[in-house]
Amino acid sequence: MTKTLLHIDSSALGDFSTSRKLTASIVRAWQQANPHVRVTYRDLAAAPPAHLTGRVMMAMRSRDLTGLSDEERVQIAFSDDLVEEFLAADAVVIGAPMYNFSLPTPLKAWIDRIAQAGRTFKYTESGPVGLAGGKRVVIASSRGGMYAGTPLEAALDHQEAYLRGVLGFTGITDVAIVRAEGTNMGPEAVEQAMISAHEQIERLFVTSLAA
Ligand SMILES: Cc1cc2nc3c(=O)[nH]c(=O)nc-3n(C[C@H](O)[C@H](O)[C@H](O)COP(=O)(O)O)c2cc1C
Repeated sequence: MTKTLLHIDSSALGDFSTSRKLTASIVRAWQQANPHVRVTYRDLAAAPPAHLTGRVMMAMRSRDLTGLSDEERVQIAFSDDLVEEFLAADAVVIGAPMYNFSLPTPLKAWIDRIAQAGRTFKYTESGPVGLAGGKRVVIASSRGGMYAGTPLEAALDHQEAYLRGVLGFTGITDVAIVRAEGTNMGPEAVEQAMISAHEQIERLFVTSLAA
């Protein structure tokens, strides 16, 4: 039974965002299936983590805050909050639109904060090992063009493939994708994409996420 769900949005488009509509539907479905689930919400577009600087990165690794400014200390505390929030969640719903074949930069900045050696993965003699396994992740993927099952998927999808890769690196293998694609291809394509995405959500909750 999912106890804590972390709901993340990253689209810059506010009320016009496709991925925000999808994450809201997924979280609503989760709450209907499990009314006791506690939802934590993080809007990365509204409050983006800053780009990492060398000093902040070094202090994140060494835990030595000597000589850091107040602002840099706030950055470290924020990173710690993000890591703890991520590790504490049994499930994570991530709104991830495709921007320039990849992710919105606030979502990448979040990944730069949570992908920390010793916290979410570790290096061992036999290679890296993820420390954040056991979570369910649902990615709400929105994109203007069509990629799935086309030659463009291998060439240009650095969004879904990248997210799966980095989550896998932290040990998370239970990743489902709810996809609305072709959203820049006219009103009929948008309608079809949303119908398809909502069918995907329904199927997810019937088959695997009801608990
Ligand atoms: C800055 C920006 C870059 C985009 N880059 C791409 C792209 O590389 N490929 C694509 O298919 N669509 C691209 N799009 C279209 C979005 O992926 C599409 O509109 C998606 O539905 C946006 O989701 P959102 O409304 O949740 O932000 C881009 C949109 C924006 C705003």
